[in-house]
Amino acid sequence: MSQKTHEILNDAKSRALIDDETYQNWYQESIRDPEKFWGEHGKRIHWFKPYTKVKNTSFTGDVAIKWFEDGLTNVSYNCIDRHLEKRGDQVAILWEGDNPYDDKKITYRELYEQVCRLANVMKANGVKKGDRVTIYMPMIPEAAYAMLACTRIGAVHSIVFGGFSPDALAGRITDCESTFVITADEGLRGGKKIPLKHNTDLAIKIAERNGVSVKNVLVVQRTAGKVEWFAERDIWYHEATAAAEPECKPEEMNAEDPLFILYTSGSTGKPKGVLHTTGGYLVYASMTHEYVFDYHEGDIYWCTADVGWVTGHSYIVYGPLANGATTLMFEGVPNYPSPSRFWDVVDKHKVNIFYTAPTAIRALMGAGDHHVRKSSRNSLRTLGSVGEPINPEAWEWYYNVVGEQKCPIVDTWWQTETGGILITPLPGATRLKPGSATRPFFGVQPQLVDGDGNVLEGTAEGNLCIIDSWPGQMRTVYGDHERFIQTYFSTYKGKYFTGDGCRRDEDGYYWITGRVDDVINVSGHRMGTAEVESALVSHDAVSEAAVVGYPHDVKGQGIYCYVTLMEGQKGDDALRKALVAHVRNEIGPIASPDKIQFSPGLPKTRSGKIMRRILRKIAEDEFSALGDTSTLADPGVVDDLISNRQNKK
Ligand code: PRX
Repeated sequence: MSQKTHEILNDAKSRALIDDETYQNWYQESIRDPEKFWGEHGKRIHWFKPYTKVKNTSFTGDVAIKWFEDGLTNVSYNCIDRHLEKRGDQVAILWEGDNPYDDKKITYRELYEQVCRLANVMKANGVKKGDRVTIYMPMIPEAAYAMLACTRIGAVHSIVFGGFSPDALAGRITDCESTFVITADEGLRGGKKIPLKHNTDLAIKIAERNGVSVKNVLVVQRTAGKVEWFAERDIWYHEATAAAEPECKPEEMNAEDPLFILYTSGSTGKPKGVLHTTGGYLVYASMTHEYVFDYHEGDIYWCTADVGWVTGHSYIVYGPLANGATTLMFEGVPNYPSPSRFWDVVDKHKVNIFYTAPTAIRALMGAGDHHVRKSSRNSLRTLGSVGEPINPEAWEWYYNVVGEQKCPIVDTWWQTETGGILITPLPGATRLKPGSATRPFFGVQPQLVDGDGNVLEGTAEGNLCIIDSWPGQMRTVYGDHERFIQTYFSTYKGKYFTGDGCRRDEDGYYWITGRVDDVINVSGHRMGTAEVESALVSHDAVSEAAVVGYPHDVKGQGIYCYVTLMEGQKGDDALRKALVAHVRNEIGPIASPDKIQFSPGLPKTRSGKIMRRILRKIAEDEFSALGDTSTLADPGVVDDLISNRQNKK
């Protein structure tokens, strides 16, 4: 470990909430007596009726996970009402628009009024406790109002990232049978308009064909662009909220009542509706937000994620607002109008805590240091990273150039399923190693196992499992509990399997090595290769497709597609373009193939299983180490694949 890492440790120590000794003590206690530990920390949120039971969880049999199960609370009450007395005039949401001249400050009192009005609009249109509401929004304050208004009345939100296509949106509307959609006329990112209302109209038609009929669409006017209007269904947000009452009593929710559904990709089938519930999730999101970022009252906190992903849920909205923080919400992109945008915003709003993804760090690193050096960044104290492994070069750049060796970097490992951060350094308490997510958060028990499920002790590399529950854990796959059990608890019986590979070093530090299943991580966005494959084969020219990830300098992983065409089809650049457009249409721009290789055959075993290991190697241009190919039905296919590879180094 370099000298530098000690220095930041000392700098951060002067204000750190937790030192190493406290970490060790709390961690031990959290494992020894979770009831007591979480019984105490559960009180960090307000309960209308306090819980008497803390933990009731089982990873075997039917897998039932319950935390604080007899307590009553409300998320919007915790994120807004309880702050009003002390910080009604404090800024809750600091909004920075796509255009650098566009910003807004929303105080807690204003947030209260906006959320109450919207909650009343939803109620007046028949939305009730337990109903699912789909949110398909740009990064504007109304997205947070929509989330909080749902929680206020006990509706379950399902946010769909604004970059997803009408098809993907329709699938998500259909799966959770949501009859109320909140969207905007258009989104605005990097100066480009995104036709959200138009996409919603198309998605609703598709959902209708699948038997789910959306009753209302509430539309925020963002750009005032032209939209089609269906008077019996569509409602203008500004008109309806202006006419609604500014007070709405929060619904008393059981700790285990559903809070939200968020769809995420797995190695098989369509995206799963990850279901999180109320009490445990909020306790965990707020506690991790405070300690992982070393959040102090008055800090300006900025997480650059989108509310369409879990990071936006837990660390733009719920965690920070539950802690009474000022949370910055950014509509734009890192390189618009220039690659210094992030740092300009940091200076403009005096940001203290900054949380972003390795893909953004790598892209900005590539744009040159001068874009960073123009800014002062004096206000920064903690830097965070999330979404994919951060390579040490990017870590060093983030630490040296952005943080000027003054800010600890918290490399936070977690997942949509985990609700909050599970493995991470704590500023001032944890010595840092570039590229390592370091140590488990309180209450988290990681375990490494080999392919046969044998537990690996000490220094080892294997598959990462978590052996006991934490309050922020997902409770089920919406509408399919069996799939929940199968996906997460059956590979290694009685353990939550993360799908990630991981190494533990001599200091007990964890190093995430990436997914070990057929999930790839493209710019921090998680994607099932099966989803891209099924999008490809839905094109008329395609007979078969196999998709793998390959190392990509900026995106982390790129999407490499092997495509076998129908008889008579010609594999040329025009078809490549058409296939890229087709996948973007089916899923969204984040799934755009980077490389398409037309291949007359795919390497299959005699039983017809595609040998992805070989395809991965060829995509990585590492085919000298292909391993045993003798079990292939037709070993000759491999030579053709190699000579036509699209990623020659
Ligand atoms: O492979 C891990 C990677 O992202 C996956 C989870 O993706 P998602 O559910 O979309 O959530 C992303 C934001 C929490 C994980 O299984 N991942 C996430 N954070 C890290 C990471 N890999 C390495 N280091 C991280 N800090």
